[in-house]
Amino acid sequence: MSGFALILPAAGSGRRLGNVVPKPYIRLEGRTILEVTLGRFKETGRLEQVVIPTSGAYMDEASDAASRLFGAETGVKVSVIEGGAERQDSIANALAHVDDRIGWICIHDAVRPFVKPSTILSVLERAEATHAAILAVPAKDTIKQALCENNRIWTRFTPDRSTLWQAQTPQIFASDLIRRAYREAAREGFIGTDDASLVERLGHDVDLVEGGRENFKITYPVDLQLAELLLRKESDPPQVQVSPAPAGKAATSSNQAPAPQNADASHP
Ligand code: CTP
Ligand code: MG
Repeated sequence: MSGFALILPAAGSGRRLGNVVPKPYIRLEGRTILEVTLGRFKETGRLEQVVIPTSGAYMDEASDAASRLFGAETGVKVSVIEGGAERQDSIANALAHVDDRIGWICIHDAVRPFVKPSTILSVLERAEATHAAILAVPAKDTIKQALCENNRIWTRFTPDRSTLWQAQTPQIFASDLIRRAYREAAREGFIGTDDASLVERLGHDVDLVEGGRENFKITYPVDLQLAELLLRKESDPPQVQVSPAPAGKAATSSNQAPAPQNADASHP
């Protein structure tokens, strides 16, 4: 399998979360979300370069985090650069910094810290076969096409849910394909909500690799709470009871309340 360059957009303001510190720089269990995400990619062992577009105020913090993880001995080149107004502008800036010799470019939101290294490699494998592959999950809710006028929101069309998938990242592309997609989008003034949509506009198929629900994007306050819980669980996994239950006492799972001592067995 080939090596790849990672673009990790981290320049957003986190409007929907409404936190003072931008999402990638929020600390959970002692590490920033950006560091946790970077760690998952380090574990793939295929990383050749990391480019992080971020806002000016956080460039030092991003550089420190990346250089802690990717010391000289790793051979991974790190560039922290200025992001843009839209996510697509941040990626466009980052593409200009990716080494021309690297054949595969992986784009992943800095705020999806639970992506599994093995899943990243599955997407890379598909991309190597078809030049464009992304992680996605089948839509779990029914999706309505909404219309809106004078404060009223209504629908008249419900697309067939069995054909709908929700795009996640990583999204991995052959380097020349994603560069061409970005050039065309800029020429036509097209702004997409993900990178794959720019490639689709070239008439190129994008393979979907089924991902997991754990790879959610930290977007709203409830997502941050869930992320905190999951990271706490990772850093402090529950102890598994290995010793047998004492004779005469039935073992109870930690989720079951023990039976009261003087329970009335005849009670329903
Ligand atoms: N991002 C970026 N440059 C922008 C906007 C977003 O690099 N101009 C990054 C974010 O930092 C995030 C990723 O793209 O890691 C996904 O974007 P999103 O979840 O939408 O984050 P924000 O744009 O920060 O949040 P919001 O849309 O709620 O403002
Ligand atoms: Mg955004």
